Amino acid sequence: MKTLIVNGSPRKNGETASMINFAVSLLNGEYRFVNTYYADISPCTDCRSCREGYGCAIDDEMTELYEYIIKCNNVIFASPLYFSQYTGTFLSFMSRLQMLCTQKYIRRQPVDIVPKKGLVLLNGGGSTVNTLGAEQTTRILMKEFNCKDYKIVCFKGSDRGHAMDDKRIISDIKAGVDILNNE
Ligand SMILES: Cc1cc2nc3c(=O)[nH]c(=O)nc-3n(C[C@H](O)[C@H](O)[C@H](O)COP(=O)(O)O)c2cc1C
Repeated sequence: MKTLIVNGSPRKNGETASMINFAVSLLNGEYRFVNTYYADISPCTDCRSCREGYGCAIDDEMTELYEYIIKCNNVIFASPLYFSQYTGTFLSFMSRLQMLCTQKYIRRQPVDIVPKKGLVLLNGGGSTVNTLGAEQTTRILMKEFNCKDYKIVCFKGSDRGHAMDDKRIISDIKAGVDILNNE
């Protein structure tokens, strides 16, 4: 079982990292980890070379990640909420899925993405975090990853406490990883 883990937080020991670390401690199989702040992943520039044939003109970490994206069985997407949305670098990573969308919707060629299960780990500073934007983004993201079965866990209130001190978050992450582990 292969899991792609994408972290959209710049804080190496922040809330998102602690939620991911806990999930990983329960996760079976192998995984590949990407932090969108520190990975060599540029945003899509809409150069449209992917309309001419399979592949992306930008040669960076995504070049080999595409293969993992297609083959992996699970995804864990994690991000702090910035203005109620995934962070900018996470969205830059997401923009590179355009190569696969072009293959499917413009060039009308099959992309055999292995069906996946997913876990989304979000967190925000306020207790009344608005997650509507991030939920909508998650729906788009999961559609492109061929992931119909996913769970969102959102910790609200990092200005006053930590996700890993919250029993509900701990049990929700456990339940989410159980779904991923259940082949
Ligand atoms: C640019 C920016 C925008 C933010 N926007 C929100 C927001 O809309 N809602 C919210 O609850 N917290 C917001 N926050 C707070 C972060 O989501 C919060 O500190 C989070 O726990 C950081 O996660 P991390 O430790 O994993 O990086 C924002 C923080 C920054 C830096």
